[in-house]
Amino acid sequence: MDICAVVMAAGNGTRMKSVHSKVVHQVAGKPIVQWVADALCEAGCSEQVYIVGDKQEEIRDVLGEGVAYVFQEQRLGTGHAVMQAAPFLEGRDGYVIVLPGDSPMVSAETICKALNKMEDGDYAAVVITAKADDPTGYGRLVRDDEGNVLRIVEHKDASEEELKICEINSSMYVFKTSLLLSALGRLSAQNAQKEYYLTDTIGILISDGYTVGSVICDFEDTLGVNDRMQLMQACKIMNRRIINKHMRNGVQILDENSTWIHSAVEIGRDTIILPGTTLMGNTVIGEECIIGENTRLDGVEVGDGTVIDYSVATSCIIGSDCRIGPFSHIRPETRINDHVTIGAYVEVKNSTIDDYTRARHLTYIGDSTVGKNVNFGCGTVTCNFDGQDKVGCVIEDNVFIGGNSNILSSVVLGKDSYIAAGSTITSDVPAMGLGIGRAKQINKDDWVTKKNRLRGANYIKLDSKRSEV
Ligand code: UD1
Ligand code: CA
Repeated sequence: MDICAVVMAAGNGTRMKSVHSKVVHQVAGKPIVQWVADALCEAGCSEQVYIVGDKQEEIRDVLGEGVAYVFQEQRLGTGHAVMQAAPFLEGRDGYVIVLPGDSPMVSAETICKALNKMEDGDYAAVVITAKADDPTGYGRLVRDDEGNVLRIVEHKDASEEELKICEINSSMYVFKTSLLLSALGRLSAQNAQKEYYLTDTIGILISDGYTVGSVICDFEDTLGVNDRMQLMQACKIMNRRIINKHMRNGVQILDENSTWIHSAVEIGRDTIILPGTTLMGNTVIGEECIIGENTRLDGVEVGDGTVIDYSVATSCIIGSDCRIGPFSHIRPETRINDHVTIGAYVEVKNSTIDDYTRARHLTYIGDSTVGKNVNFGCGTVTCNFDGQDKVGCVIEDNVFIGGNSNILSSVVLGKDSYIAAGSTITSDVPAMGLGIGRAKQINKDDWVTKKNRLRGANYIKLDSKRSEV
């Protein structure tokens, strides 16, 4: 059977008040139109044509060259949109699935249900419908006394009686391709919106003597994103579905309202996701980790048993049994191996950090290669920027760096060496050696008495003076 799809995505999306095409806005980290394309592929329909308008470049950027595009010059309605695909549809004798590009919740299951219904009965088309608590704004499905589909009436054209109908048109259909083409040719724009309604093809096919079937799906699955409120609603519903999927797979999630997980994220069993956590992009988390509270991981690979607390990490790899945070910032191109500790106010960028290394507080590691079991004293800075280029340093295994040290570009700290606290290290330190790079301390005996600088005795006097001020 020849099955293809036409997706309507040329609308201006005026109600979104956005400079971008409505259908490229993201739901759970994936553009709305990509959700539609994926559902079609999952339903076995890879031959897809997209009706696009002025912002077509954005849609092409999302979907790429694997699908076809037709430009709709003027937006004269959904019927007019599908008409633009006529050259693509002519001569085909199978089915065409028609979907709106703005309905991210559409599922492959629903599409397959409609395709199966087409195959089982002798239908010219199958309309996917849903029961809405509040059908305001939607097209309504008008049936006869026996429940047969008669036509679809748009909200703005509906009579008092028709407005009471709660079964809505999802704007998702399967048609016999040749019959759709014949009905499209007979559409008129004589209606409240002066548009060519795709919905009118149903009434036309019925008056031609054909039957139209329907499948009813969950109202949530039909949700169209027309404005920012509906976008938020779609994001929430999708997020809840994703969270439920992870919980079914053995992930513990404490709060579905403050946890946001993108669709591509993978999480291992017995991992706990604490409130305020956002997991984005292609993040993959192993088993028995604790992530959060208030942590954002975007495109991060995390091993097993790692704890990440109040931290932000982007496009990096964090190994197993690591302790990250609170308040760590792990930036792109970083690879942290196993049993590593990255603590408070530590930033790591484009660096490799090997097993058992610890940077517990106030440290910056940039563009550097760090070996195993290195200890970064509080306040260590790799001075990776000379004003022109970014070049880090090499710190070999077991190096001990005393607090508040600066390690300059290109320097190599040899295996098992020590760096004295407060050093600025400008040249290599040999293995097993000690590097000290600071001014030598001088002590002046009894300087306080000689200079009459004793502070303790004057403390109360000073303090009362202060309060007078
Ligand atoms: C449409 C249906 C309505 C249904 C509702 C479900 C019609 C006439 N009405 O109304 O019965 O209940 O969807 O959400 O079909 N588009 C184009 N070119 C155009 C006009 C629209 O490509 O000239 C695209 C839009 O980008 C959008 C889709 O078609 O993705 C639907 O258009 P929209 O204006 O959102 O239709 P609704 O008013 O929601
Ligand atoms: Ca819509």
